[in-house]
Amino acid sequence: MLITLEGIEGAGKSSQVEPAAGFVRAAGRACITTREPGATDLGRRIRRILLDPACTDMNPRAELLLYLADRVQHVEQVIRPALARGQVVICDRYVDATLAYQGAARGIAPQLIERLHAIVLDDWRPELTVLIDIPVEVGLARAWNAVHRGERNGDETRFENENRNFHERVRQGYLDLAAREPQRFRVIDGNRTPGEVARDLQAVIADRLHLPCPDGGGNR
Ligand code: TMP
Repeated sequence: MLITLEGIEGAGKSSQVEPAAGFVRAAGRACITTREPGATDLGRRIRRILLDPACTDMNPRAELLLYLADRVQHVEQVIRPALARGQVVICDRYVDATLAYQGAARGIAPQLIERLHAIVLDDWRPELTVLIDIPVEVGLARAWNAVHRGERNGDETRFENENRNFHERVRQGYLDLAAREPQRFRVIDGNRTPGEVARDLQAVIADRLHLPCPDGGGNR
């Protein structure tokens, strides 16, 4: 089972990945965590290019293809083998990030992204995608605070440097994707404490994996 977490900058996904995996393991299921871009040796090199704030003149289609290159390597080297071993895979970002960032925000036609995804990734989709939704000003403030506190690498701020409208388009792109595929998506309000978000996330995962439900969880 492939589960993906999505959201804008500062939504809090990355700090939710490990607790969510711990919850799955505590319920007796093998589980790995991974992320895009940058989960493989090749991917880490691609990530450096993609997130480098000095790369100011990257063509949007070149950017798209670099994300796809990272994803192909990631799926073949990490995700597919883990699923074949029967493990649950929780992945921080996947194809919906491409549709939201390169599609909705950069303006690349979603049909092109979908076609490329179908060709190079056999149209491989997660079974569950959790969107942690948060207002742009809250997310960006959190993201920059993390950079200033040294918790996030200042060499990885190419997207944080985009203007507010860009991030509003990413957020709306994600919400539109969630509305189009209500079976696959669950939307969680990220503008709360990490503990509250974690509880909702566990409830959503428990529901999909048929695990015992944690107390007090809920989702919309
Ligand atoms: P993160 O590891 O902190 O989430 O940073 C990854 C950045 O890359 C984030 O700004 C979103 C962006 N991104 C895309 O633009 N397209 C994609 O397909 C993926 C996976 C990420």
